Amino acid sequence: MPSISNKGIQMPESPIRKLVPFAEDAQKKGKNIYYLNIGQPDIKTPQVALDAIKSTTIETLAYSRSEGAESYRIKIADYYKRNSIVVSHNDIIVTTGGSEALLFAFGSIMDEGDEIIIPEPFYANYNGFSTASGVNVVPVISKIEDNFALPPIEEFEKLITSKTKAILICNPGNPTGYLYSKEEIKQLADIVKKHDLFLIADEVYREFVYDGVEHYSILQEPGLEEHAIVIDSVSKRYSMCGARIGYLVSKNKDFIKTALKFAQARLSPPTLAQIASEAALDTPQSYFDDVKEEYVKRRNTLIEALEKIEGVKVATPSGAFYCIAELPVKNSDNFAKWLLESFDYNNDTVMVAPAAGFYSTPGVGLNQIRIAYVLNSESLKIAVKILEEALKVYKD
Ligand SMILES: Cc1ncc(COP(=O)(O)O)c(C=O)c1O
Repeated sequence: MPSISNKGIQMPESPIRKLVPFAEDAQKKGKNIYYLNIGQPDIKTPQVALDAIKSTTIETLAYSRSEGAESYRIKIADYYKRNSIVVSHNDIIVTTGGSEALLFAFGSIMDEGDEIIIPEPFYANYNGFSTASGVNVVPVISKIEDNFALPPIEEFEKLITSKTKAILICNPGNPTGYLYSKEEIKQLADIVKKHDLFLIADEVYREFVYDGVEHYSILQEPGLEEHAIVIDSVSKRYSMCGARIGYLVSKNKDFIKTALKFAQARLSPPTLAQIASEAALDTPQSYFDDVKEEYVKRRNTLIEALEKIEGVKVATPSGAFYCIAELPVKNSDNFAKWLLESFDYNNDTVMVAPAAGFYSTPGVGLNQIRIAYVLNSESLKIAVKILEEALKVYKD
């Protein structure tokens, strides 16, 4: 039989999706599931984006330019300008989701065996993208006790070798909800300049920051022009996960030139979705104000309820829509499966993402789960109640 590649064998399963068969079985048995495992918001897509698709008069759904439609990139640059980030449309490549932007970034700056330093826990698919690119993830552990703040910069410095090409952060963080301060970004800027590394910031949640604190992008940091690469996406910002549109932003011309070759190889990002995404840039501010208010309400409901459960520790997120909770269990993988297979409370159960898959250090995060607060406050209250009842009877 022809054999599968080692790389293919090593590709990790998504910790977010791997429990899906168990959820399907539970549903077939008539259980109602509260899905807290996946970052698929229940928020409506802005009407302007939907209208743009409905009213399009295009007769041939052709390829777009590999770097994305020019009119769209010009409007993206305007969006950044409104957010105090000065970039030109030539610094932007439209991709098929932030996912493809990550793959292009890795492919453009790293070779087989190169290393990328990432504070963990991190967005689980960074593991998958690294494996696919033959790159080794070098983790720096951030701690729930510190709310997942940036680990001391000396921890990063200790890990830099001749193979290190980049530091990757997610700001605000999935799965931690942590928002890096300007001071923390400056520390990272200093270290990447000192060691001549790239700094990749996944800013797909940049719009979701709470408590009056402003997001500080690496693109705002002076002197970082040749180092900074931003990953962005419409998926969460406009609740357009299915559009599959994201982008790479960098002022490093060599990087953009290289990433464009990857973009050319896959021809073009989706044409129709670019029309919707371009229109989405006209979304009124009131939409974001309402969405933010809703997420703050959900966050407060969730954290307050979780903190009341005995033995549960939780870090309060200041951005994105996730939190990591530490549970009084030995192995949250088993617990998450058990919730779907063997537990119900009034015929309801919850689906959560075991957090170990958000770490690359083996054995870390085993007693943690990630919760996405993508359900309304009432549903969240019920979901946490179910979790509380489950913890009362669960035996490791
Ligand atoms: C931190 C982070 N980066 C990137 C992505 C990729 O998103 P997409 O490919 O839908 O733009 C996600 C999706 O959940 C994410 O959470």
